[in-house]
Amino acid sequence: MNELAERVSREFPQIAREIRAAWERGEPTSWFEEIYQLAERDGCPVPWQTEGGHPLIREWLEQEGKASAAERSLVIGCGYGDDAELLASFGYSVTAFDISETAIAACRNRFANSAVVYQVANLFALPSAWRSSFDLVVESRTLQALPWDMLQSAATAICSTVAPQGRVFLLAHGRDEDEPHQGIPWPLARSDLAAFQVAGMTEETFADITLEEGPRLFRATYRNKGATS
Ligand SMILES: C[S@@+](CC[C@H](N)C(=O)[O-])C[C@H]1O[C@@H](n2cnc3c(N)ncnc32)[C@H](O)[C@@H]1O
Repeated sequence: MNELAERVSREFPQIAREIRAAWERGEPTSWFEEIYQLAERDGCPVPWQTEGGHPLIREWLEQEGKASAAERSLVIGCGYGDDAELLASFGYSVTAFDISETAIAACRNRFANSAVVYQVANLFALPSAWRSSFDLVVESRTLQALPWDMLQSAATAICSTVAPQGRVFLLAHGRDEDEPHQGIPWPLARSDLAAFQVAGMTEETFADITLEEGPRLFRATYRNKGATS
């Protein structure tokens, strides 16, 4: 088990148990809803929630500068909505979705006056209206929480929403190529990110970042330079 998975198991044993049980049932995405329900009902922490949005997304947005409201952004697996609100504060028109009804209800409560459109949706059955529609698609730490064999189909679904010349922003826990990809979550190796190229994107930036006392993270951007997938 890798260091991160050990930390999740140690610090969030209830959550680690839920995840293992869901995988054993062959329902690898069902546990997310259970986690949000546990959080709402029992105050169980949601380990990935980053109040105010992830600092590495904020840093990148600051480098990019303000967007115009005409620029549409889609947030994949938005959880409690912090990253979606961060993008909106930088000027984007944001749609954010999650498979968890409880998470989306919490977003609507937390940000009752927000311009962000929060929607329950499954990455693997996206609304057809989203196809090739977004200038910036933000994927933060969802791929790594899905079973290994879903990586390519998840990346392909993410990329299907990117408009021509639009971009994907990716944030994921990183690992060395020879580090075993067991545990929860699965940190990604650099070579795993080829899934975005297979899905038709061109890598524009890649950074391997270890925050002080934090996990190793990969931050990358991809552009849709060709015909849409
Ligand atoms: C590890 S969390 C990351 C949340 C958020 N992106 C962040 O970085 O804080 C993964 C999120 O993706 C959502 N999710 C998982 N599978 C999904 C799917 N098939 N479709 C939509 N959302 C999904 C989960 O409910 C959860 O909120």
